[in-house]
Amino acid sequence: MNYFTPWIPVTIFCIIIIQIKLVTSQIPTTLKGPFKPVTRKFDSSLRRGSDDLAMDHPLLKKNVTGNFPEQISLAISSPTSMWVSWVTGDAQIGSNVTALDPASVASEVWYGKESGKYTSKQKGNSTVYSQLYPFEGLLNYTSGIIHHVRIDGLEPGTKYYYKCGDSSIPAMSEEHVFETSPPSGPNSYPRRIAVVGDLGLTSNSSTTMDHVVMNDPSLILMVGDLTYANQYRTIGGKGVPCFSCAFPDAPIRETYQPRWDGWGRFMEPLISRVPMMVIEGNHEIEPQVAGVTFKSYLTRFSVPAEESGSKSNFYYSFDAGGIHFIMLGAYVDYNSTGSQYAWLKEDLHGVDRTRTPWLVAAWHPPWYNSYSSHYQEFECMRQEMEALLYQYRVDIVFSGHESC
Ligand SMILES: [Fe+2]
Repeated sequence: MNYFTPWIPVTIFCIIIIQIKLVTSQIPTTLKGPFKPVTRKFDSSLRRGSDDLAMDHPLLKKNVTGNFPEQISLAISSPTSMWVSWVTGDAQIGSNVTALDPASVASEVWYGKESGKYTSKQKGNSTVYSQLYPFEGLLNYTSGIIHHVRIDGLEPGTKYYYKCGDSSIPAMSEEHVFETSPPSGPNSYPRRIAVVGDLGLTSNSSTTMDHVVMNDPSLILMVGDLTYANQYRTIGGKGVPCFSCAFPDAPIRETYQPRWDGWGRFMEPLISRVPMMVIEGNHEIEPQVAGVTFKSYLTRFSVPAEESGSKSNFYYSFDAGGIHFIMLGAYVDYNSTGSQYAWLKEDLHGVDRTRTPWLVAAWHPPWYNSYSSHYQEFECMRQEMEALLYQYRVDIVFSGHESC
């Protein structure tokens, strides 16, 4: 596993906005290939460095007080249900931190089809996590309360207004609005899908997200390496080009978890109204002692794992209109004898191409790339899984990771 991807001054790997046309016959399929590869000249100006956004940057600062919700985000649960997630209370960082009681703030979402009229209410779960570094001079972190509510009974292709929070305090959010995906079928597709990888939290990340917002997506695929909080020491400070080079004597690969909170605020204006589907990258591993990994990633995001028959939040699938998306985990077992492979096989077998003609898969590190530092890094995963994806005729694959 590569914990030490070189620092990427340009944190943006790619943004691909794909527009699925209603008339699928106009779109060539892999069955008509192979095609001549289409490449585009690289814009060398993008190679310039980009400073990290400071924690007191307006886009990262906490703008609510008390137990009012912040870092609000959406993720598709099914065509008729949606995950709503948010954070309340203050995270702590220091030598001695005390975890908040997740039961001290309720998890409620009020929603309905008309602004200000919330005909449905749903309750959910809350949790906290800690990132602990029991080493001299290192600081510990414990999160605010992280809430996840699955709202259901939604109609496809419909706009919903919602508030989240705890009405008993009272501390409900402002009203937000989202639109559910169109119904599954060969003639209905999300209007625009943004695919983003290796985003980070720099001024280039800001440019990237401005570009995404300008293109008005109705769904976001976030293909790993989200915050780069692991480029920092626990005492914070500016990011470094290479953690292991800058801190060769560090007892463990440190992280600065408040960057995750900053990232949640940075993303909120978009992902509180457009669902974001995440998959883990190497920068999400964030090891703690006793083999604890991925704590922040697993605690902060809801994904439709259970909904898609997966027993792990590291891989799952979902439908959006006539597309079946498969999100694969590259940093968990992918062997053909393992549980992810068994799940993938069953999921692929269950795909009805008359209902979802398009089959799209995504995972963080690409199986093919010419970047010397990552060359054939995931050749083992390719050897285990590629034949299965060909067998079921996956149309498009998206990855990140190769960002310098
Ligand atoms: Fe990566």
